[in-house]
Amino acid sequence: MKVSDLREILQYVPLFRERIFVVAIDGEVAASENFPNLLLDLAVLRSLSIKVVLVHGASHQIQNLAKQRGLAITNSDGIGITDEPTLQVSIDAAIRLTNEIMEGLSSVDLRAAYINAIIAHPTGILAGVDQQFTGRVERVDVKALKLLLDEGIIPVVPPLGFDGEGRTYRVNSDSTALEVAVELNAAKILYLAPGHAFETPATLPRQLAISEAEELVKKRKSDFTPGIISKLENSAGACRQGVARAHVLDGGINEALLSEIFSHEGIGTMVYSNEYQQIRRIFKKDVRAVISLIRQSVQNEELVRRSRTEILESLSDYWLLEIDRTPVACVALHIYPEHGSAELACLHVGKSHENQGYGRKLMAFVENLAREKSVKTLFALSTQAFNYLQQKGGFSAAEPSELPPARLKKYEASGRNSVVLVKTLRA
Ligand SMILES: CC(C)(COP(=O)(O)OP(=O)(O)OC[C@H]1O[C@@H](n2cnc3c(N)ncnc32)[C@H](O)[C@@H]1OP(=O)(O)O)[C@@H](O)C(=O)NCCC(=O)NCCS
Repeated sequence: MKVSDLREILQYVPLFRERIFVVAIDGEVAASENFPNLLLDLAVLRSLSIKVVLVHGASHQIQNLAKQRGLAITNSDGIGITDEPTLQVSIDAAIRLTNEIMEGLSSVDLRAAYINAIIAHPTGILAGVDQQFTGRVERVDVKALKLLLDEGIIPVVPPLGFDGEGRTYRVNSDSTALEVAVELNAAKILYLAPGHAFETPATLPRQLAISEAEELVKKRKSDFTPGIISKLENSAGACRQGVARAHVLDGGINEALLSEIFSHEGIGTMVYSNEYQQIRRIFKKDVRAVISLIRQSVQNEELVRRSRTEILESLSDYWLLEIDRTPVACVALHIYPEHGSAELACLHVGKSHENQGYGRKLMAFVENLAREKSVKTLFALSTQAFNYLQQKGGFSAAEPSELPPARLKKYEASGRNSVVLVKTLRA
């Protein structure tokens, strides 16, 4: 691990301390070789004072147990009909798995408790068919869950719900995780699905706004496996009801949880409700961030090298685009009042955030800023992004002689031979 990785990780720690994460694990992931690694990830989360609730599925175990018993079950994922024999197998398989998970957690020194926190009612009759012992979550015992969380204990929630009269229902774990996260006002849900669930011709986007996730579930159901669609649907639902982020991850990847939570790139798909995004002026303390953000572009000769002193001299010209308080892009606007023009400069979007419209957002931002300052002509110099500035920013190629005299002098001295581009700003 590089020191810079540690820096990246540490910036998230204050954001998440004492917040609740609901980790929803498919039964198949809990049975996989990678499960002990995921338990270690949970131990890291706990060591950072993140409160964890573990909701698990049991479909894989239910199918296996039914096979062992030679029983034909009506359904294994808690969405279809659950008849009496299927319910019995489901209870046995789910509780066995809960116990195994608790053993795993204790092997990494984590305290955990099984809890029947799901109050359910029967799903009832759908399209004329009685769903029998399939249940819907009616309420979550928030008080009991919070008691455990406050004591540093991980509540383990199986996919079973209970009514007030001693009856048990099979509930779906994806939707249970949603209800638990909403009721607990969790910061995140992390859905862990087995690797084969991601084996589809279409790839999942890395980030989806709620409406995009809903659209995908509605219009592209056949492009993805039912397991992934269920997780995306519940992710969107959870975000609609106030959970800030929901993630769908391949539970077969080593350190899946940590990689997703503590890096900008992530490894899975994130559905987000309120991406905290802002464009703000930079301060002295941000100069280092700007220099490190543009380092790669400077090395590629896309941007001119700027020293700390140069940036400090025109500090108020620079702007940062932040997501979740992390700088991901920057731009500068240098004004030449005597010439009625301004330069859009130092436009850079970090690799992990390219092609998501941030460059265009910053161009539009700078253009508005220039207009407010009565600038008539915006210009830009580029060695490699001149097509971008023309096609996406509406700039046109121009002659260096159109630059303000002071800028022309610097242009000639630099020897970079950048393409000169201009855009006339109408009031
Ligand atoms: C150029 C840059 C700012 C684009 O930012 P971005 O946020 O990735 O771009 P957007 O999301 O707004 O736009 C993406 C579109 O621009 C296109 N594009 C990106 N870089 C391009 C380039 N150098 N030339 C032509 N088109 C480019 C993409 O193919 C994509 O096209 P599509 O929408 O038709 O699919 C970014 O790649 C960067 O920082 N480059 C290095 C620094 C640089 O050259 N800055 C400009 C000098 S002032």
